Amino acid sequence: MTNQPRPPGHEPAIRIVMMPKDTNAEGTIFGGVILSLMDQAAYIEAMRQAHHRYVTVSFKETEFHKPVYVGDVLTVYAETTRIGRTSLNIKVSVCARRRLDPDENVEVTEGEVIIVAVDDNGKPAAVLGG
Ligand SMILES: CC(C)(COP(=O)(O)OP(=O)(O)OC[C@H]1O[C@@H](n2cnc3c(N)ncnc32)[C@H](O)[C@@H]1OP(=O)(O)O)[C@@H](O)C(=O)NCCC(=O)NCCS
Repeated sequence: MTNQPRPPGHEPAIRIVMMPKDTNAEGTIFGGVILSLMDQAAYIEAMRQAHHRYVTVSFKETEFHKPVYVGDVLTVYAETTRIGRTSLNIKVSVCARRRLDPDENVEVTEGEVIIVAVDDNGKPAAVLGG
């Protein structure tokens, strides 16, 4: 998937350069760094839907398709696919523009994050009020 087109108006939640501090023992980017970015992107998307405190309750079907390298520019997209009473399902996809080949822009990871709106006591709260 080279230079994968995105739907018009589909803005990235996050864009970031991967640094040497983000690597695992293999020298590629540590999966936990990517998961953290996905979590943050889901939070940003949730806040776009409704302003709340949020906690992440689940990562579903997250797959790492391709490695990410130091110097790659990651773009993280997040899209709400379901708004429940207190939870949101957010589809997150991560694309890497390769440092060594800027024409190569590949989807490296995708998954679904489930995030729950909580009140001041950490108890689930209605996303859209009521
Ligand atoms: C998230 C949390 C508040 C949910 O509390 P809970 O008492 O289980 O709440 P409920 O059973 O009422 O579920 C609340 C919502 O979450 C959803 N949910 C709960 N567990 C889920 C799971 N494993 N997968 C998908 N959705 C889940 C429920 O379907 C419900 O959604 P809805 O209201 O839209 O129908 C609680 O589990 C918690 O605080 N977890 C720790 C979260 C955290 O700290 N995350 C950071 C990483 S450590």
